[in-house]
Amino acid sequence: METAKITVRASGTYDILISKGGLSGIGKAAAERFKPCTVAILSDDKVFPLYGKTVMDSLEAASFRTVAHVIPNGEQSKTLDNVTAFIDCMVKAQVTRTDMVLALGGGVVGDMAGFAAAIYLRGIPYIQVPTTLLAAVDSSVGGKTAVDISAGKNLVGAFHQPALVYLDTENLKTLDPSVLRDGFAEVIKYGVILDKKLFDTVAKPNSFDLKEVIARCIEIKRDVVEQDEFDKGLRGLLNFGHTFGHAIEKLSGFTITHGSAVARGMIIAAKVARVYGFTDYTDIITKVVKDYGFETDCPFKANELYSVILSDKKRSGANITLVLPKQIGACTLEKMPASQVLELMKKAGL
Ligand code: GLY
Repeated sequence: METAKITVRASGTYDILISKGGLSGIGKAAAERFKPCTVAILSDDKVFPLYGKTVMDSLEAASFRTVAHVIPNGEQSKTLDNVTAFIDCMVKAQVTRTDMVLALGGGVVGDMAGFAAAIYLRGIPYIQVPTTLLAAVDSSVGGKTAVDISAGKNLVGAFHQPALVYLDTENLKTLDPSVLRDGFAEVIKYGVILDKKLFDTVAKPNSFDLKEVIARCIEIKRDVVEQDEFDKGLRGLLNFGHTFGHAIEKLSGFTITHGSAVARGMIIAAKVARVYGFTDYTDIITKVVKDYGFETDCPFKANELYSVILSDKKRSGANITLVLPKQIGACTLEKMPASQVLELMKKAGL
């Protein structure tokens, strides 16, 4: 079994290990990097029954002590109360500064475990073990951690880089097809923003080696994070399709999933780019999104989207920065008054 290694050099330096079938090697990988300690695992009730035992057995065989806290699967669990409950579990288990957190799950678990690790005892290390495609290519890498509050998604959080990301692509085989598809919205995103070759590779579903594609997405994210860890500029490119996507998610009451919303958001961004004066890539992006089985129509009007976009955490003062495709593989960040975003959406027919 070949394990690919990608190293991220940000405020913390850490390895991302990508294997096909290597989950039971996590204890060895951890022992090569960290002293024996307690590992406090956060997982959810879909993932833990599948992989919890393998991870705990492997860590314990490598002289780590493990404790586990399991939350219900789904975005509704991503709350401050659930972070507090996990922290209470760590207090009870006498987890100290020399111990670690481990996130076993998708983006919700990864963001929450990372946030708990960022604030518990003013910060302890954590390991990401992503089990969804979305977490593998995006949320497990780069150190963004957060929880949702009633005003919006991810509004409370911290930058806290993981100490290790350990991915077994075989774990993605048990995903519901719709959850797997959600991750492909992020994969397509990487192609559009920075890598035409990747875009062309993934344009036809099921025609490529998933492990290689995941590794390429992670390399792109690594390069962006190393240049702009704290999201002051370039990292904004990773939000392609997300400003509109987050608005769609919120307006749907989260019945439209993140990936489906981002897929539609990328199409809106392409339409907006056209009316902004850039070359029109709407048809090319729409075709790929459709081929993955995503809906392509936005069920909300420009005014509705705008009302949510105004409360987006990425807004700075009166301005909004949109990520617009200039070419496939080359997006730019376009800062403009918020009111112009509304005008552009209307002009684009929303
Ligand atoms: N998911 C976007 C970022 O990590 O910046």
